[in-house]
Order: sequence, then structure tokens, then C-alpha cells
Amino acid sequence: MDKIATTLAGKFIVFDGPDGSGKSTQIARFVQRYREQGLTVKEVREPGGTLIGEQIRDILLDPANDGMTMPCEMLLYMASRAHLVEQEIKPAIERGELVVADRFVSATLAYQGTAGGLPVEWIQQVAEVAVAGFWPSLTFILDVDDQTAAGRLNPLLDRMELKGKAFHAKVREGFLEQAKTWPDRYCVIDATMDENTVEKAIHKAVEKWFLTMNFC
Ligand code: TMP
Repeated sequence: MDKIATTLAGKFIVFDGPDGSGKSTQIARFVQRYREQGLTVKEVREPGGTLIGEQIRDILLDPANDGMTMPCEMLLYMASRAHLVEQEIKPAIERGELVVADRFVSATLAYQGTAGGLPVEWIQQVAEVAVAGFWPSLTFILDVDDQTAAGRLNPLLDRMELKGKAFHAKVREGFLEQAKTWPDRYCVIDATMDENTVEKAIHKAVEKWFLTMNFC
């Protein structure tokens, strides 16, 4: 195992970004890279990742629930998260595994906060309950413009993807604002590039962070 893989044991890394950012592909590559080095990697996704969480996911993404209020939406994302942290993330970190999450509180801040209009302080207060101290060491924001993102989406849009262009432009803004506010914990990756180039950019950022403790 190389020096970086050794350092990643017991750490928690999040990949987030607008819909259509190519997160899933990059997570799969990232996880494979470190598993091949012998590191045990716990991969989780939000909303979901547990039996209860997947049921909450179905409610959240069902286009039939288009009347859902923003506080209800935020609390359902947090409920799924609270259960995932307790059941999967916390035990994996305590076992010394690398935890890689597809979305986390960063998504709630961007979607329900910046785009949805809920005050950031409300989200952060509820997040303290859901996360129970298990905050990520690093959050990658895979940044894409709306045209590139739209071209990558499955044509069968879910309830969140159906929220429209203006909402999703604000989501992107929300992610970029977070990265500016917390430059020591966030790293923005230009995800408009081809998959191999994005993968290399992520790896370079991880290397830099863990060798110098200084992010992008
Ligand atoms: P996914 O498509 O990446 O699986 O995420 C499901 C959708 O839920 C996506 O549109 C982003 C959205 N979402 C929020 O609005 N708030 C959250 O806290 C999370 C985790 C996801």
C-alpha cells in the first residue's frame, strides 16, 4: 500500500456536485484505485445507503410528490443521513476503513439551502444531529455547467432533476460558495473534462492534500 492509501485509512471523503456532474463514474474509479492497493473502502450513497434510507430516497425522488415542502424535503434528506451515519459511516470509520460518500451535507446546503431558500443555520443545526460528529475530511465538488450536465442525465428525470434550470443554476452556485467558504476542506474539480482527465485531477488533489495537508 502506498503512503497516500495508508493515510486514507479511517478517513471520510465526499463527492458532490450538480446533477449530471459524473460523480458516480469518478467514485467508482476512486474506490477501485484504493481497493486495488489493499485498502478497505466503504462506499455509500445519499439519500439512501440503508434499508430505511432507500425508502426515504424513493419518497424524495418520486415526481408524484411534487407538492413536498422545502422543510419536509430537508428533514427527509437529514433523516436518511442520520440513519446512514449511525449504521454505516460511523462503524466503518471506527474499523479504520476509508469511507467514500456519494453526496452529504454539502448537497443539502446547495439544494435545500442556496437553491431551496432555507437558512443555512437551520440546515447546520439539523446536520449536527444527523452527522453526530462524523464530518468528512474532504469534499470534492465536481463542477459542471448546465449544458454539459443536461447532456449526461438520464432522460427519465426524477423529482429533483425536474426542478428547472434556475433552481439548478443556484445549486451550482451553492456548491461553489461552500468551496470558497471552506477552502481547507473542499476542492472544486472541473468535471466538464473527459473522464480520464477528471480522474487524474482528483488523484492529484488527494496527493497534494495528504502530503502537504493543504488542499487544492
Ligand atoms: P443522486 O442523483 O446523486 O443520487 O441524488 C439524488 C438527488 O437528491 C439529486 O438531485 C440531489 C438531491 N439531494 C438533495 O437535494 N439534498 C441532499 O441532501 C442530497 C443528499 C441529495
